[in-house]
Amino acid sequence: MKTITLAAKSGQSRLLINERLENLHKHCDVNKTVVITDKNTADLYGNGFKNFKTIIISGEEKDKNLETAGTIYKKLLEFSCDRHSFIVGLGGGAVTDMTGFVASTFLRGVRFGFVPTTLLAQVDAGIGGKNGVNFMGSKNMIGTITQPDFVIIDANTLKTLSAREFISGIGEIIKYSIIAGEDFFNQLAGNLYLIISEFQKKSLSEKTEAILSYLIEESIKIKVDIVEKDEKETGLRKVLNLGHTLAHAIELTEDIPHGEAVIKGIKFAADFSTREEFLNIEENRKITNMLELTGVSTYLGIKTKRDKIKEAICHDKKKKQDTIDFVFIRNAGDVFVSNIKLKTIWEVVDDMCINQ
Ligand code: GLY
Repeated sequence: MKTITLAAKSGQSRLLINERLENLHKHCDVNKTVVITDKNTADLYGNGFKNFKTIIISGEEKDKNLETAGTIYKKLLEFSCDRHSFIVGLGGGAVTDMTGFVASTFLRGVRFGFVPTTLLAQVDAGIGGKNGVNFMGSKNMIGTITQPDFVIIDANTLKTLSAREFISGIGEIIKYSIIAGEDFFNQLAGNLYLIISEFQKKSLSEKTEAILSYLIEESIKIKVDIVEKDEKETGLRKVLNLGHTLAHAIELTEDIPHGEAVIKGIKFAADFSTREEFLNIEENRKITNMLELTGVSTYLGIKTKRDKIKEAICHDKKKKQDTIDFVFIRNAGDVFVSNIKLKTIWEVVDDMCINQ
C-alpha cells in the first residue's frame, strides 16, 4: 500500500493506494461508523464490511438529490449518530458525492471517508473534497468542499465493473492526460486499446493491470497537485472541468454515465478550441483518435435535441449572466480557461448534432 497525502486548506486526506476494502475496519472504529452504499456494491462486497451499520441507497446519479439526503439523515438519527460518528461512502461517484454531502452537513459536519469502487470515483469523484447533490435537473448545484479523512483505492473492485462503467472512468483519465502533458498523454494513447480490449474480454494480463494501476496513480497525483493549489476552485482547479460544460448538460437528460458524457464533452472542447484556432488540426486529430478508442460516439445526438442542450448549459452553476468559464485546449499539457459569451457556444452545439 502507498499513501499519498492531499494537504488542502480545509484539511488533509490520506489516499490509500492499493489498500483493500476488507481493511476498512483498520481505518475507522466499527462501533462508531455507518457505511453508506448501494445494493449492487453491498451484494458484491458486503462481506468486506459486514460488521458495520449500513445504509443502502440508490447508486444512480438521478437519485443523487435532497430527497435521498433526507432519507439518510433520518437513518443516521435512527442509528443514534452524534458528532463523534464516522461515515463511509462505499460505491461509485454518486454514492461518494452523496455521502460527503450528508456527512459534511449532518450536525454541521461529521468526519467521513470513502471507498470508491468504480474507476471514475477512484480517479476523480472520490478525490478532492467536492461533495454534492443535483437540484432541479442541474448537476451538483448544492454541495460542499470538504476533504474525506481517507480514501481507500482498491483496484480489485474494478474487476466487477461493466465495460461501460470502466470506459466511463477512462473518460476522466483521458481528461487528466490532456491537462498533464505529452508524456502522460502518449503513455495513455499507447496503451488504451490494449487496456480496453483486455478489460472487455475480462482478461487483464499482469502487465496491463500494472499499466492501469500506474495510470490511476498518476491521475490521482495530477488531481492532488491541482487541488492542493486551489481547493476552492478560484482559478487553477477550473481546468479539471475540461469537457464538463457539455458533459453536465447532457448527462442527466440523456441518462448516460458521467465519463461517457465527459468523452463527448472533450471532443466538444477540442472542436471548439480548433474553431477558435487554439488547437491545430493535427493535435485535434490525436485527441479525437484517443477518444475514438473508447468506442463512445462523439456526436451529440439529433438536431431536435439542440435546444434542450442549450437550456441545460444555461443552468450550469459556472454560468455568470450570459457568459460561462470554458476550458480550451492548446495542446496536451496546455489547457486554459476563458470566460466566453454563451452564444459563441451554440454554433458548436449545432455542428455536433446530426440531421435525422
Ligand atoms: N471533478 C472536478 C473537480 O473535482 O474539480
